[in-house]
Amino acid sequence: MTETLLEIDDLHVAFDTRAGVVQAVRGVSLTVGRGETLGLVGESGSGKSVTAQAMMGLIDVPGRISGGTVRWCGTPLVGEGVRRAPRNIWGREITMIFQNPMTSLNPLMTIGAQLQEAVRLHLGLRGAAARTRAADLLNAVGISGAARRLDQYPHEFSGGMRQRVMIAMAIASEPRLLIADEPTTALDVTIQAQILELLAELQSQLGLSIILITHDLGIVAGLCHRVAVMYAGQIVETGAVDTMFEQPAHPYTQGLIRSTPLLDACDDRLVAIDGTPPGLLIPPAGCAFQPRCPVATAPCGVPQVLTPTGTGAVACCRAGIDAWKVGAA
Ligand SMILES: Nc1ncnc2c1ncn2[C@@H]1O[C@H](COP(=O)(O)OP(=O)(O)OP(=O)(O)O)[C@@H](O)[C@H]1O
Ligand SMILES: [Mg+2]
Repeated sequence: MTETLLEIDDLHVAFDTRAGVVQAVRGVSLTVGRGETLGLVGESGSGKSVTAQAMMGLIDVPGRISGGTVRWCGTPLVGEGVRRAPRNIWGREITMIFQNPMTSLNPLMTIGAQLQEAVRLHLGLRGAAARTRAADLLNAVGISGAARRLDQYPHEFSGGMRQRVMIAMAIASEPRLLIADEPTTALDVTIQAQILELLAELQSQLGLSIILITHDLGIVAGLCHRVAVMYAGQIVETGAVDTMFEQPAHPYTQGLIRSTPLLDACDDRLVAIDGTPPGLLIPPAGCAFQPRCPVATAPCGVPQVLTPTGTGAVACCRAGIDAWKVGAA
């Protein structure tokens, strides 16, 4: 087993809103090992970004961590009794590419100035050394003509190139874990593939661990070692990526796979999962997927606990049944 870097234990995040308390993350536990790519997937609103923000210490009012811990190499970063996380972990050992990268670059600063600022901050480089390192970073993310590119502004870069710059900024501190929140959603399919390939390359060259957040199971297939599936603020299934695609145990995971266009399943029809996730103001006591599940039964009304499977775990008392086949019969 590889060394565990990040360990999230029973994390809860709540937002105090006028309408009441939104329980966005409800007891998430995850680990990420050295050099591992973990895919975090789930529908919009399932709590992926909030989980990532909690890992980075970015939950702010009206949000709060209402339970659980996040540890980095055994050191608590977030959780009860943690006043201030140690310096030099967030932004240095753990970095993040945000869901909306177009707003993360400063339009008034050249790309070079922004990259040099990052390497000055993290590596203490200044002047010519900082510029050389900034050019190296642009080369590393596949942007050619770096010397000229450094003096350009973000608006002179295409969407795909800006995303490459964001990746360059995120690896400037030579991190050990990169959290990428929907890094390709705003890009067209060809550029999307290039960015994913770049992440895979960087991972093997730099030995990075990556958490890849996406609503698209197809994306995790090519890149991730392990997958965690979120639904309504909880992890409903985890497992090795191959097992997850070959033998998904949770009816929700099975439904997601049925609705994902995969290259080797071109003769299967894609079928969406009817219905919508529950509201999180008053989350259901039992399985949150129950109202949409074709094989739901009385025991689904009580909380479902993650139970170990061959390569991961599943929270479902009907796990392993081919839910959509049985349900359709
Ligand atoms: N500032 C906030 N105030 C109130 N509720 C919030 C806030 N931020 C997030 N939430 C709620 O937390 C839940 C999880 O949101 P999150 O952004 O993590 O979803 P997601 O899985 O990342 O979705 P997407 O795929 O659309 O990015 C949602 O129900 C959302 O409405
Ligand atoms: Mg999100």
